Amino acid sequence: MIVAQNIKKAIGDNVLLNDINLTLMPGSITAIIGPSGASKTMLLRCLSLVDLPTGGELAINGSSFSFPKDKPNTALIWPQLTVVFQQLFLWPHLTLFENVAVPLRMAGRKDADARARSMLERVGLEAVADHYPNQSSGGERQRAALARSVALEPRYLFLDEITSNLDVESASGVLQIIKSLKSDGLAIAIVTHSLHFIATAADSIVFMDHGRIVESGGACILRDAQTPRLQRFLSDSSMRCSMPIYMTRQLNGYVRITNSCMRRLFI
Ligand SMILES: Nc1ncnc2c1ncn2[C@@H]1O[C@H](COP(=O)(O)OP(=O)(O)OP(=O)(O)O)[C@@H](O)[C@H]1O
Ligand SMILES: [Mg+2]
Repeated sequence: MIVAQNIKKAIGDNVLLNDINLTLMPGSITAIIGPSGASKTMLLRCLSLVDLPTGGELAINGSSFSFPKDKPNTALIWPQLTVVFQQLFLWPHLTLFENVAVPLRMAGRKDADARARSMLERVGLEAVADHYPNQSSGGERQRAALARSVALEPRYLFLDEITSNLDVESASGVLQIIKSLKSDGLAIAIVTHSLHFIATAADSIVFMDHGRIVESGGACILRDAQTPRLQRFLSDSSMRCSMPIYMTRQLNGYVRITNSCMRRLFI
């Protein structure tokens, strides 16, 4: 379990995160939504200790850190925690198979190659396992990055807009894999604009703006937002535009998505 209490991140006079309280439970998906610049990425960076918070407390697997006093030993934490950022970093000179196998070999796993193969199978990449990243589609690269991120069996998986460059079908495939990882018991935090995924898969939703959590709760907050800011965000065109096309097909003949259409989807 990860518990964040009053987490703050300031760079100079710029307060990027303030008063963040959040719990990530094993076997759960927490969706983080909010406008550009709300500090969603910074939240994942601080929860994963890629960036250190400048205030507050963070407990990861029972180890508690108080900031700015503590300097956590990330060598102990990171094997249990993986972050996949939007700009995924596959090694360009290695095949997809090697991209997954090399970290396993480096970790001394005797079953490294067999495990890499089975992870690639799990994400449907067995046929292209010997392709290099530049011979692979965006969706294939994204699935390879996901396979690599979970190959070492982390307990926590943080995903930052990993489907935003994918077509609807590829994104849906990746999101299905994420759902299956939840049933493996991982605690998953995902920044995404896929309302369909959030509505069907997220156990909790956190809406951020200006570095703060403005509203949080279950999927019900999408149809019954309590704060004017979340209400406005949900009716904002950018959120509607990023709704998967297959949802529009469910609207029986509606081509344009209107606010009322969107609201009906969640009733
Ligand atoms: N290293 C940094 N130094 C100073 N400011 C930063 C740094 N990293 C991010 N910021 C600022 O923090 C704010 C939040 O950035 P962040 O990338 O977390 O937003 P976001 O919610 O993920 O946005 P998007 O949806 O566009 O990815 C932005 O105003 C950004 O300019
Ligand atoms: Mg971001």
